[in-house]
Amino acid sequence: MPRSEPTSASAKQLTAAATSSDDAAWFMHDRFGMFIHWGLYSLGARHEWLMSRERMSVADYERYVAVFDPDLFDARGWAQAAKTAGMRYVVLTTKHHDGFCLWDSALTDYTVMHTPFGRDVVAEFVDAVREAGLKVGFYHSLLDWHHPDFTVDGHHPLRDESSVVAFGEGRDMGRYRRHLHGQVRELLTRYGRVDYVFFDFSYGEGAVPPVWGGKDADDWGADALLAMVRELQPGILVNDRLGIPGDFVTPEQYQPDRPMEVEGQAVVWEVCQTLNGSWGYDRDNTGYKSPDLLVRMLVDGVSKNGNLLLNVGPNGRGAFDANATDSLAGLGEWMRLHARSIYGAGASTFTPPSDVRYTQRGDRLYAHLFAWPFETLHLPGLAGKVTYAQLLNDGSEIAMRVIAPDTAAQNLTQGGQPEGTLTLALPVARPNVAVPVIELFLR
Ligand code: GLC
Repeated sequence: MPRSEPTSASAKQLTAAATSSDDAAWFMHDRFGMFIHWGLYSLGARHEWLMSRERMSVADYERYVAVFDPDLFDARGWAQAAKTAGMRYVVLTTKHHDGFCLWDSALTDYTVMHTPFGRDVVAEFVDAVREAGLKVGFYHSLLDWHHPDFTVDGHHPLRDESSVVAFGEGRDMGRYRRHLHGQVRELLTRYGRVDYVFFDFSYGEGAVPPVWGGKDADDWGADALLAMVRELQPGILVNDRLGIPGDFVTPEQYQPDRPMEVEGQAVVWEVCQTLNGSWGYDRDNTGYKSPDLLVRMLVDGVSKNGNLLLNVGPNGRGAFDANATDSLAGLGEWMRLHARSIYGAGASTFTPPSDVRYTQRGDRLYAHLFAWPFETLHLPGLAGKVTYAQLLNDGSEIAMRVIAPDTAAQNLTQGGQPEGTLTLALPVARPNVAVPVIELFLR
């Protein structure tokens, strides 16, 4: 049974309840973004944490600097690929934990300008993304395994080295903090409007699993950093990994099973997901999610009021590989026909039957069928509430029936549906799309 009437007004209330400020309106509307992890680790081609996993020294890891020359890099191509897949915002790693900067930072030489490539990737990215009409996002690592002042901890590549390094002699987090804030200031003052920033990440007390020497809000100077970000870019959205609350929460590689709440309050949330379990290009990892699964993940999140930030890890030449291209093509083909069940849509007040996910936008309810039943689809609580039903992929009418409870068993052998159930008569053949959607026009 519905918990309340599904009117445009109630949809608005839903949005308001889940939004921390009006600034998040575009974000909750757009629902779908592209994450891009790209840097020196893309050449190693075996996960973006390879420096840590393999306990590489700075000198050893720096071998990638001399050969970073991505001849296929094309920011416009990236932006176009995101747009065609139906994504509305793009988030690039300005710097990952390895400390390598994709922009022309004045605060270090460890940047793309000091590679054979020598071009400001962030500048080209921002121009291309904006030109494509998409929102601009930066991912920025709080960690920095290259910086001499960043103290060694349980994640650091030098964690197994001598106790001198391990206990932080000669390293000064205060100096590192100034560097971190200075770099963020560069990023937020040089490239015009930035809509979104994803800081990554805090692992202080309470981290699971525990990390010795773990770092948290105080280590980052999080309050001051956040205040600076908001001052430089009013209206920007900031995630929740500074160790203090942000504008949205960020489950990672996990699909929440209901709208997310913090202390009983609905919150804006965005799940980030990979194509194959790795963020950075990972050549030998073939555990790819199918395009159908990716569509289901997008739908499932939106049905619970969440966004999907789906990652692509371009390779060492700056190109998306065939797996990524195929995944994006599959998503784009589905989004071409079904975007209106995603953009501006969110959780419905109606409860769907199993294998169905509802999204709702005002007076339109979208039933996403994760499994295709034989001919009949029973939708509890919707009798008398729907004026018209159609398949979204081709706009073909779907017949509706309301079965009186006492005649149900005779008319339809399955029978026994509760009062108030709306029954749809589906074609036997499942539409040839990743996830079929029925658009219901609510009274
Ligand atoms: C993690 C990882 C990282 C990745 C990020 C994406 O915190 O450290 O490699 O960039 O999640 O959310």
